Amino acid sequence: MDKFVITGCNKLYGSVDISGAKNSAVAILPAALMVSGICRIENVPDIQDVRVIFELIKHFGAKIAKIDAHTYDIDSTNLTYDAAPYELACKLRASYYFIGALLGRFNKAEVPMPGGCNFGVRPIDQHIKGFKLLGADVDLNHGVISAHADSLKGGNVFLDMVSVGATINIMISATRAEGITVIENAAKEPHVVDVANFLNSMGANIRGAGTDVIKIKGVQELHSGTYSIIPDQIEAGTFMIAASCVGGDVVIKNIIPRHLEPITAKLLETGTEVEEFDDSIRVRRLSTLTSTNVKTLVYPGFPTDLQPLATTLLTIAEGNSKVTESVWENRFQYIDELRRMGADINVEGKTANIKGVEQLMGTHVEATDLRAGAALVIAGLMAKGVTEVHNIIYIDRGYESIESKFNGLGANIVRMTDN
Ligand code: EPZ
Repeated sequence: MDKFVITGCNKLYGSVDISGAKNSAVAILPAALMVSGICRIENVPDIQDVRVIFELIKHFGAKIAKIDAHTYDIDSTNLTYDAAPYELACKLRASYYFIGALLGRFNKAEVPMPGGCNFGVRPIDQHIKGFKLLGADVDLNHGVISAHADSLKGGNVFLDMVSVGATINIMISATRAEGITVIENAAKEPHVVDVANFLNSMGANIRGAGTDVIKIKGVQELHSGTYSIIPDQIEAGTFMIAASCVGGDVVIKNIIPRHLEPITAKLLETGTEVEEFDDSIRVRRLSTLTSTNVKTLVYPGFPTDLQPLATTLLTIAEGNSKVTESVWENRFQYIDELRRMGADINVEGKTANIKGVEQLMGTHVEATDLRAGAALVIAGLMAKGVTEVHNIIYIDRGYESIESKFNGLGANIVRMTDN
């Protein structure tokens, strides 16, 4: 296991390039199994979750050729059906996309229940509801989801709640289902649109992604093609919030400003300066931060994945702030770690009540999940003294070379082996 040793209070200056979107890549790469040919995928982030997905793809016989650091050819011409191996599937939440992809390719799938960050119950009943409405029989035995259909037929799916994973998974499996599938109450996140655009570039017929009604007309075959993954909205938001927390003047490059509107709006409320350009955004903090309130919502609301980072920012905002988590059951475990750094926060149900303090103090903290880990790195950057962030394996799942990107802006983060 590794840890980060962070010396705080270095303001951040310069520019940083954002990688491809993790939550697009972990869906697009499994979906490539439905293409009887070669998919060239560009702007693939070099992160641990993607490496696990590649291992899973190879398990089914797909051939992967690395073209450059972020470009891969995936050849799914000759696949062999098999159950997904537990030791890989349990490592991440996105392994559930192999159910949709294998159903779409083979009309059957056996995938262990997914792993992923632990912030309460993370059911997949809406995924299963969708597969059943497309004509599949789905069972859960001994922790393995087994699905099979004589053939998939289009159907109407009204999701009981907005779910990114269920929207994408049903869209993937419906791509080759006979007839029309309509998904209502669909998620509208940028990565939902990205997966639809990828499938359409391989010959699918998907309309409406990005709205709450998506229509999929099934096609017989998907053909080879090339696709470039969108920039990661959450990584970009991480660096925007870091620039505001620590102070300085940072240009975040290779982004889509529209995807960052909820973060920009909230940072402006705290008195942070944000300037948008075509594919970059400049963030400066020139004065003390003003308190504000944040409520996480599905897109285009403030993203739940940036909730821990928003809380970290507000620990030093003058006055009282509230952060309310409306997507996940329990996504505040990291707050005990911020308290160890001197933050003044108390949690009542789904709301964290924050009283701004002068400055956080460096100490030992433990990452409890991916985005909480990123929040603790930023807390270390803004704290007085040295902070050691343990369990950074979580952070490596979703951020490409986070320490070198921050050190390129003037931070002082050293990766060390954790005894
Ligand atoms: C995706 O998770 C992301 N993960 C999460 O990001 C993100 O927090 C989440 O979407 C919300 O934006 C990936 O894309 C791999 P949901 P997902 O289905 O798809 C409930 C990160 O840090 N629900 O949109 O699992 C669920 O419990 C990760 O990158 C059901 O009840 O989230 C939650 O309350 C963390 N039944 C809500 O819906 C279901 O069948 C939204 O979940 C599915 C979901």
